[in-house]
Amino acid sequence: MNPIVKAAPKTLLANGVEMPQLGLGTWPMNDAEAATAVASALRIGYRLIDTAENYGNERGVGEGMRKSGISRPEIFVTSKFNRQWHSLEGARTACEASLERLGLDYLDLLLIHWPNPDQDRYVEAFHGLQRLLDAGLVRAIGTSNFKPAHLQKLFDQGLTPHVNQIQLDPYHLRSDLVAIHEAKGIVTETWSPLGRGNQMLADPAITEVAQQHGRTAAQVVLRWHTQRGFIPTPKSADPVRQAQNLDIFDFTLTDAEMNTLNGLDRPDPTMFDADSFGH
Ligand code: A2P
Repeated sequence: MNPIVKAAPKTLLANGVEMPQLGLGTWPMNDAEAATAVASALRIGYRLIDTAENYGNERGVGEGMRKSGISRPEIFVTSKFNRQWHSLEGARTACEASLERLGLDYLDLLLIHWPNPDQDRYVEAFHGLQRLLDAGLVRAIGTSNFKPAHLQKLFDQGLTPHVNQIQLDPYHLRSDLVAIHEAKGIVTETWSPLGRGNQMLADPAITEVAQQHGRTAAQVVLRWHTQRGFIPTPKSADPVRQAQNLDIFDFTLTDAEMNTLNGLDRPDPTMFDADSFGH
C-alpha cells in the first residue's frame, strides 16, 4: 500500500493555466520503470509528471498514468522535443508523436528540450509551439536549458515561454537567469533539484537545517525550491522517497535558513552548457 500525501499547491502560469508546485522527474527510467514509478507517484498524490522524447520512456509514462486510476484532467504532463524538430512543422510532428507514445490527446506543457544554438532554429520551433497552443494540442509552452542569450532572442521576437526548465539547486543558483524569469513572468522549473550526485544532501549546512525541522535533507532542499517559487521535479522510483519528496508543504524554512541555502552557490565546470551541449 502506498503512503498518501496531500497534493502540492498550484502555481498560475502567465496564461492562467495551473501547474502543480512539485513533480516527478522520470530520467533515466526506461518504459517499465517509468510505468511503475508514475503509477506509484500518482497514487501517492503527485499530479505533475515530467518526461521527454529523449528519455525514451513516454510509453511507460502513459501506461503508469492509466494504471494509476487518476483521471487525465487531474494530471499535468510535460514532454520535450529534440533538435531535429526545431521548425514549425517539426514541432507539430514531435508533439503528435509524443501524444501517440503517451496515449493522450493533449499535453499540459511542451518544451524545447535544448536550445542547440549551433543550429539556431529555436525561434522557429517556438513559433511552432505557439501554433500547437492555438490548436489546443498543448495547454502551455516553454523552453528547457535556455540561457539568458537564448531567451533574449525569443523576447526580441515578442515571444515569452510560460516555463523555462533548468538545472538548479542550492549549489547551482543560476541567479542571472532566475532574475530574468522573474522580470518576465516565466516560471522556473528545476531539474536535478537534489543536486544529481547527492553529495549536496550530506552538506552540514543543509543537514543542520534538516535536523532543526525533523526532516530529511532532501525535504529541506525541495522546500527551499518551492519557497523560492521554483517547481522542482525530483526523480525517484522508490515509493518511500517519492512520498517523502512530496511531503514538504506543511513546514516553512525561516528567512535565515533560506539565506543559508542561498549562500551555497559555487562554480561547477562539469555542468552541462547549453551553448555546446544539446540533443
Ligand atoms: P532514487 O531514484 O534511487 O530514489 P535529482 O532529481 O536531483 O536528479 O535526484 C535524483 C537522485 O536523487 C536519484 O539518484 C534518486 O535516487 C535520489 N533521490 C531522490 N529522492 C531522494 C531522497 N528523498 N533522498 C535521497 N536521495 C533521493
